[in-house]
Amino acid sequence: MSSIDEIWNRLDTAMETALSEPLVAKFTSEPQRAARLGVDTAGIHFDFAKTHLDAGVVDAFCGLADAAEFDTWREKLLTGSEINLTETRAATHTAERGTGNAADVAAARDARETMKALYGRVADGAFGAIDRVIHIGIGGSFLGPALLIDALPKTGPVPDVRIVSNIDAVALERTLQGADPDRTLVVTVSKSFTTLETMMNMESCLAALEEMGGTAVRSRLVAVTAAPDKAEGFGVDPQNILPFAETVGGRYSLWTGVSLAAALALGWDAFEDVLAGAAAMDRHFAEAPLGKNAPALGAMMDLGYSSLVGAESRAVFAYDERLRLLPDFLQQLETESNGKRVDRNGRPLTRASSPIVWGGVGTDAQHAVFQMLHQGTHLVPTEFLAVVAPGHGLGGEHHRQLLANCIAQGAALMRGRSYDEAMNDAGDSAMAQAKTFEGGRPSSTILLDRLDARTLGALIAFYEHRTFSFGAFLGINSFDQMGVELGKEVARTIAGGDLGDLDASSRDLLSRAGIS
Ligand code: F6P
Repeated sequence: MSSIDEIWNRLDTAMETALSEPLVAKFTSEPQRAARLGVDTAGIHFDFAKTHLDAGVVDAFCGLADAAEFDTWREKLLTGSEINLTETRAATHTAERGTGNAADVAAARDARETMKALYGRVADGAFGAIDRVIHIGIGGSFLGPALLIDALPKTGPVPDVRIVSNIDAVALERTLQGADPDRTLVVTVSKSFTTLETMMNMESCLAALEEMGGTAVRSRLVAVTAAPDKAEGFGVDPQNILPFAETVGGRYSLWTGVSLAAALALGWDAFEDVLAGAAAMDRHFAEAPLGKNAPALGAMMDLGYSSLVGAESRAVFAYDERLRLLPDFLQQLETESNGKRVDRNGRPLTRASSPIVWGGVGTDAQHAVFQMLHQGTHLVPTEFLAVVAPGHGLGGEHHRQLLANCIAQGAALMRGRSYDEAMNDAGDSAMAQAKTFEGGRPSSTILLDRLDARTLGALIAFYEHRTFSFGAFLGINSFDQMGVELGKEVARTIAGGDLGDLDASSRDLLSRAGIS
C-alpha cells in the first residue's frame, strides 16, 4: 500500500470517529470548538464549527497536505510557476492583485494601466456620450463581472451595464430594448475570441444596433481578450483592445480587463478595492497555518464530505439579495476546476472529485428546498452566507429577521428534533416520525462585516483558493477544462449538417426540431 493510500485510510478512520459523535455534542466535548474552527480575515468571519472537522480530521488532512506537497503547489501558484500541466502554463490570476513573480505582476500592472486608460476614454466622452454598455461574454467571461455588477453600488460613469451570454437571441433582444444605438458601447469579452456564443452575439448585436439606425456602431466596439490578433482580425480598433495574459484562466479572470464594463458601472476605485480585498485574502492563504487557513479548511470540509462520506453536493445559500449570483459563479469556478476524473499525472482518481455545487438565496430557498435539507435522504453539506451590515435603508427589522433565519437554519440542521420531542406535540407515532429531524447535518457559515468591493474581492479570492486547495489535496489540475470540448465538437458537427454516426434518438430529436 502506498503512503498516500495509508493517509487516505487514516482520513477515513478520523472521519468515522468524528461521525460517531453527534455534531451538537461536539460543542460540549470541545468547548473551544467555535474558536478553533473560526477564522477572521479580510473583514470576513468563517465558521466551520458545525462540520465534522474534529482536530483528528484536520490533523489527518495536514498529513494529506504533506503527502500531496500542498505547500509546494501553493508556492507554485503564488509565484507563477507552471501548474496547468496539460496546457503547459502557469495560473497567474493572483498576479493581477500583486502576488506572483515580478514579471507577471509588472505585466498585470501594465495591462491594468491600459484598462484604466480605456475606462478614462469612455468616461471622458471619447466614444461620445455613452449611457449603456452591453457586455458580451459567456462562462468565465460573464459570471464574475455579472456578480460584481449585481452585488455592488453602481456609482461609476455608466451605471447601465447589460450582460448577454446565452446564444438564445431572446437574451440579446431583451438587452437591446431601449438602447440608443449611438450611445451604446459594446464590450466583447472572450479569452479565446473564438467562442461560438460570444462571436455570434457580438455580430448580431452590432448588426442590430446598425439596423436601429446607429452610425459608426463598430467604432464603439471594445474587445477584451488574450488573443488580441483575433480581435484585430475581426476589425476591432487596436486602441480599443484590452489584452490579458493567456495564463489567467477564464473563470479566474474577473481581476483583469474582463471587468471593464463592471468598472464602468461601479467606478474605478471600486474595481481597485475588489483587487485589494483579494490581495488581503491571498496573504491569508499564503501565510496562515492550514488549521487556521480559511480556504484550506473549506477544502477539507468539501473533500471530507465528498470523498470520505460520499456526499454528492454542497449547497450554498446567500442570505443577502446582493449575493444572489454567487451560487452561479461558484458552480462554474468549482465544478469546471475540479470536476475531473484523473489527477494531474493522468491517473484515474480513487476518490470523488468536485461535489455538485448548487444553491440559492435565503430566505426564498427556505420555502423551496429546505425541506429536503432538513429531512431528505441525501446528505447535503450546506454553506450559509450573510452580511452584518444591511444593504438597504428600510429599517432594521428586515435585517434582524434575515440574519436570525440564516443562523437558525444552521442550528436546526445540526440539532434536529428527536422522535421523543416530536411525540410531545404529535398525536401518534406516524405523525411523530414525520416531525422527527435526525439532525447532525453539517453546515458552514460565512459572515461578512459589510458587503463592499473589498470584502467581495476577498470572498471571491477565498473561493478561488478553496477550489485550488481541493484540487491540490487530490492532485488535480484545477486549471484546464477538457470536459467541455466534446459537447462543443458534436454541436459543431451537427450544426454543420454532418450527422455521421449520430444515434437514432438524437437524429429523431433533430428532425422534430427542424434542424435536419
Ligand atoms: O467552454 C468553457 C469555457 O472555455 C470557459 O472555461 C470559459 O470561461 C468560457 O468557455 C468562455 O471562453 P472565452 O472567454 O474564450 O470566450
